Amino acid sequence: PFSLVRDVAVLRQNVAAWRAAGLRVALVPTMGALHDGHLSLVRLGLAHADRVVVSLFVNPTQFGPAEDFAAYPRQEGEDAAALRTAGAHLLYAPDVAGMYPEGFATTVSVAGVSEGLCGDHRPGHFQGVATVVTKLLLRVLPDVALFGEKDYQQVQVIRRVVTDLDIPVKIVAGPTVREADGLALSSRNAYLSPAERAVAPTLHRVLQEAAAALRAGEAAALVLERARSALSAAGFGPLDYLDLRDAETLVPLASLGSRRAARLLVAVKLGRTRLIDNIPVLAD
Ligand code: PAJ
Repeated sequence: PFSLVRDVAVLRQNVAAWRAAGLRVALVPTMGALHDGHLSLVRLGLAHADRVVVSLFVNPTQFGPAEDFAAYPRQEGEDAAALRTAGAHLLYAPDVAGMYPEGFATTVSVAGVSEGLCGDHRPGHFQGVATVVTKLLLRVLPDVALFGEKDYQQVQVIRRVVTDLDIPVKIVAGPTVREADGLALSSRNAYLSPAERAVAPTLHRVLQEAAAALRAGEAAALVLERARSALSAAGFGPLDYLDLRDAETLVPLASLGSRRAARLLVAVKLGRTRLIDNIPVLAD
């Protein structure tokens, strides 16, 4: 059984009935234009719970004024079909007025982890994400919610929100799903021209080479500088950041310590498209 729901009262009835039957509920929040990265989270949800709710909401408040809210790909019919096939149970697709009714005035703003990296380059983005994810969690009240490591800083922001606001949900992060050539799947890859698409996998390769050099003991400053140059030589640019960070707190690391997990994170333009990616350097 698969249903498409737009109304929050109907959503709550469905989830309450599952609860009453003793079933565990998972939530996978998305903005649609679903690909195998999203569907991997649905499958992970099925491994953690009996029922999987997927939300589809292109959230206007997390897009900057010069960003792609209007152009963001919308294909609800295809998304619903893919979710049904993947075994999801309910697609929750509210409209903007249902999410932000007249008079809406509350935001969730996270200090610390939402500063730096994408936070510096997309003002207000993580406040938009934190607010809408809080609303989705409180509407669905799932046992577990799943997010992709592709958006690594987003996962850390959401973990912070859930801890700080005492939202009783387990946050699970799924690994980044990639094309065979290493490019991380993203709804925005559809914006790439054929020539840009040919260059795009270099992003992951450069991260892998940098991670290997760091593990081999090369100095972080040199490794990062070489990686930045390699991106620009490959045709990327401008670069928002390519940084080595603590995997949990996201504080900048000047060198690779042996005790704490570290992560390389990058955001860079390729033509008009902004690509992000990240990989572990030392596993958690
Ligand atoms: P969206 O970009 O649609 O992504 C939905 C979820 O899919 C996020 O948790 C994201 O990290 C995950 N995802 C995207 N590409 C992935 C990949 N290649 N491998 C694994 N997981 C991947 O992220 C958002 O939407 C929004 O900010 C949202 C959380 C829904 C709030 O509006």
